[in-house]
Formats: sequence, C-alpha cells, structure tokens
Amino acid sequence: MKTVVFRIWRGDATGGKFVDYTTEITEGLVVLDVVHKIQADQANDLACRWNCKAGKCGSCSAEVNGIPKLMCMTRMDTLNTDKPITIEPMRAFPSIRDLATDVSWNFRVKTKIKKFKPRKPDAEDGTWRMQQEDVDRVQEFRKCIECFLCQDVCHVLRDHHKHDEFIGPRFLVYTAALEMHPLDTEDRLPELKQSQGIGFCNITKCCTKVCPEHITITDNAIIPLKERVVDEFYDPFGWLWKKIRPKS
Ligand code: SF4
Ligand code: SF4
Ligand code: FES
Repeated sequence: MKTVVFRIWRGDATGGKFVDYTTEITEGLVVLDVVHKIQADQANDLACRWNCKAGKCGSCSAEVNGIPKLMCMTRMDTLNTDKPITIEPMRAFPSIRDLATDVSWNFRVKTKIKKFKPRKPDAEDGTWRMQQEDVDRVQEFRKCIECFLCQDVCHVLRDHHKHDEFIGPRFLVYTAALEMHPLDTEDRLPELKQSQGIGFCNITKCCTKVCPEHITITDNAIIPLKERVVDEFYDPFGWLWKKIRPKS
C-alpha cells in the first residue's frame, strides 16, 4: 500500500484547473483503476470515458504525465509514484468535461474518405483472387481501435490546429488500408494531396510511438501514401507516361 497524489484536470469547455487527490494504491492497479477509486471515494462527479478495461474499445484515452495513453493499459508500477501523477484530457480535441473530450470530429473526417470500391470478379470463375502478401500488407492497419491517441500527439492537430486541412495519422492509416487493398479500384490520391493535407506530415513518427496497437503508422502507411502522391503529381516521367500510354 502506498499513498500517491493524482493531479487530475477538472473543468469543461469554458475552462478548468488541476485538482490534487491523495489516495492509496495497491499492487497491480492501472491508472483507470485509481481514477475509478477517486471517483468512488472523493469525486463522484469526475467525468471519464471507458468501456472495456482491456485496451480494445479505445475509450479511455487521456494524457498521463503529458503522454497520450490508454488509462486502462497504463500500469501504476510503470510510473514514478513519488511525484504527483498528472491526468488530463486529450489536448487535440475540445473538452466536454474533466477527462472526457469531444472526438466527433474524427467520425466526420471518416465519412469524407472514399469508401472501398471493389473490382469486378475474375471472369473465368467469378471469384476474387489475391496474393497473400497483398492481404498481409493491410492486416496491421485493421488492428486500429480508434483511440485517437495518434491524432492527439500529432503536432499538426495538437499545436497547429489544422483540423480543417489535415485528416491526421488515424485516417492516413484508414486510407492506406483502402488504397493498398488488393481489390480496391478507387483513387484517393487527389484528396490526400489537397483537402486531406498529407503534405503537413513531416514524418516525426510521434504517432507510431503512442499507438497502443503498435501499428507502424509512419513507415507502413504514411510514407507509402506520400510516395504514391509524389509519383502521381510530381514525377514528370510518370505524368508523361500517363498522357501517352495507350488506353486499356
Ligand atoms: S509522423 Fe506525421 S502524422 Fe505522425 S505525428 Fe508526425 S507529423 Fe503527425
Ligand atoms: S492508429 Fe493506433 S493510435 Fe491511432 S487511433 Fe488507431 S489504434 Fe489508436
Ligand atoms: S477502457 Fe477500453 S481501451 Fe481502455
């Protein structure tokens, strides 16, 4: 048993402040357990979003000591409990109350991304054939739990507030899953270059570092998409070839 100070941000869209709560912790707790304990014993009105407590619903995202994390997957024994532990809501999204943020912007962004458009089945037997390596390439992107921690850490959204011009790493992963799908025929490159702002990403890899699903966001999703945009819009030989190639 150890006494620990939790410094939790309390407030809403109009403003707020950090409030200290002193509580006792036992072995094996995660941050979400302690937040629930404080909620039960000292602050019944403390707002915090959670659902699965297993790292799979993506609801309990917050910033623990300034780092975007899932509270349910952050073990207390990984933190220095000799100092106050700060818990605050994700900074890239508007506050609702206390630790709950309004992440609805993300769902609006998703609706604007062109959906999967499959090619016709193979003529000879009406089936779709794919290479296993093409299937494997997009598999990791499907692990995303939409916790939006990557969106929260990305400086383009967090510090520069480019929510109207940049879709963020989560939706670059989503777009990569569609663009690299072996059966997809849609072209998302014009939007990626223009309204979705892939050029704002300067490959800092912060998003990859915070992803709880360990998706290789930058190397496997963003960089290949950037290469496709460059090939499409900035490669003069590619452009010339598209102009002169025979139409199929
Ligand atoms: S790599 Fe790009 S998308 Fe990821 S955090 Fe950095 S700037 Fe944002
Ligand atoms: S890519 Fe990773 S960090 Fe980003 S929303 Fe999905 S699971 Fe969360
Ligand atoms: S409560 Fe579901 S991911 Fe933390």
